[in-house]
Amino acid sequence: MMPSSQETDQLWIGRTQGKLDDITISLSESISLDKEIYLQDIRGSVAHSRMLYKAGILTQNELQKIEKALRAIQKEIQQGKFIYEARLEDIHTHIEKRLVELIGETGKKLHTGRSRNDQVAVDTHLYIRSSCYSLGQEVLHLCSILLERAKGEIDTLLPGYTHLQIAQPIRLSHHLLAYFWCFLRDVQSFTVAAETSNCLPLGSGAFAGVNYQTDRDLLQTDLRFDSIYPNSMDAVSNRDHILDFLYAAAKCMTHSSRLAEEIVLWSSQEFSFLSLPDSLTTGSSIMPQKKNPDLAELIRGKTGRVQSNLQNLFVNLKSLPLAYNRDLQEDKLPMFDTNRQTLLCLQALQSMMEKAVYHRENMLVSLNKGFAVATDIADSLVKEKKIPFREAHHIVGKLVSYCITQKKQLNELTPKERLSISSYLKEDSFYQKASDLKESTEKKISYGGTSLSQQKKQIQEATRSLKKWKKYQWNPPNYSF
Ligand code: ARG
Repeated sequence: MMPSSQETDQLWIGRTQGKLDDITISLSESISLDKEIYLQDIRGSVAHSRMLYKAGILTQNELQKIEKALRAIQKEIQQGKFIYEARLEDIHTHIEKRLVELIGETGKKLHTGRSRNDQVAVDTHLYIRSSCYSLGQEVLHLCSILLERAKGEIDTLLPGYTHLQIAQPIRLSHHLLAYFWCFLRDVQSFTVAAETSNCLPLGSGAFAGVNYQTDRDLLQTDLRFDSIYPNSMDAVSNRDHILDFLYAAAKCMTHSSRLAEEIVLWSSQEFSFLSLPDSLTTGSSIMPQKKNPDLAELIRGKTGRVQSNLQNLFVNLKSLPLAYNRDLQEDKLPMFDTNRQTLLCLQALQSMMEKAVYHRENMLVSLNKGFAVATDIADSLVKEKKIPFREAHHIVGKLVSYCITQKKQLNELTPKERLSISSYLKEDSFYQKASDLKESTEKKISYGGTSLSQQKKQIQEATRSLKKWKKYQWNPPNYSF
């Protein structure tokens, strides 16, 4: 018995007969997600049909008809007029089915020498290449913002922390530039994924190659790929390009999350090192006084999600035999989700870093409260009083505990009090210089350190590196035909 018209929708219906169970349709469908790659799918089909024309499989007239219909389908999708149905499984089937509806027999020729395994592989390569480009641009923009803010905050002193305990005075530029370098490495990681995805899988058939004299060089040029997969089995089963992308994004989100955590801490009443504009915060439905750094918290929260997307695909791949297996369809969720969430988070971070207001006076209060210059006093004892560091460390330790019991700061001690700890500390000119905050930063003259001259040098270096990465030759998305 021939299946009814509705039952003939599946492209593979010749082999099996009868109506599919609802559960088969529900579990198999990927259209709810992969409709996102319609542009890539259409552009891949255009390249494939041009190649079929060159191979003598399509006439010029047929090629023109296909291109025109694919253009019409693209328009239908963009205008929201395209109808999606779970029983048509995926975006590849949807587009091919519509093509046949529009141009009949000619549409049925498009799939000559091609499989959906081929199609999904080329679509995801194009998608990852585009996503690396767009996220790369966002990270570069964030780097520019961090660099500009660092230039403006070169004279702002604040405590640097280890173990979240006040450690040593630093310049705020130093702190901001630390993140600048993290994110610049992320740009590099996105270029790595952009390069792994810049290889053409199309032309591999189901996995073993095709029985036609095809021209993969033509596909490569038309779709602007740098190279062609030399092994058709590898081409359809490989997902390394997605892994590389997910890794780059997970790392970038990890950096974003650390910065977001500092925005949360620094905007708390306890720190009060920065304020966010109202437009980038939210209130509480019950506590009228609240102004919450939700964007930063959400970045922190979404980071776990993006990190797990990488793990998701790794676990999917680890036991798959060659070549294509349907498990691979599950690559869509981590890929699309990571792209969308990372984009949103980067844009939120750009706004917060651009508009945050720093409170220098509160940073100074913390510096003084936290005995941030203790190491500098010890170093000055070593340099000027020629005593061993271990002994100097001991003297300053006693000095700090004296301050704590007397509820005083290091710069409030009288010569008499200092003398009671050690005769080396008595002299005013020595002690003031040894305990001055700005002096402390000026002593950090090693390459990469927090002194003014080193910070200026680092800003120059950051400017040069940013310029270099801005010139990187991406392969920006272009799906026109
Ligand atoms: N929707 C499928 C995917 O995303 C396309 C490939 C289907 N291939 C197959 N042999 N059923 O992986």
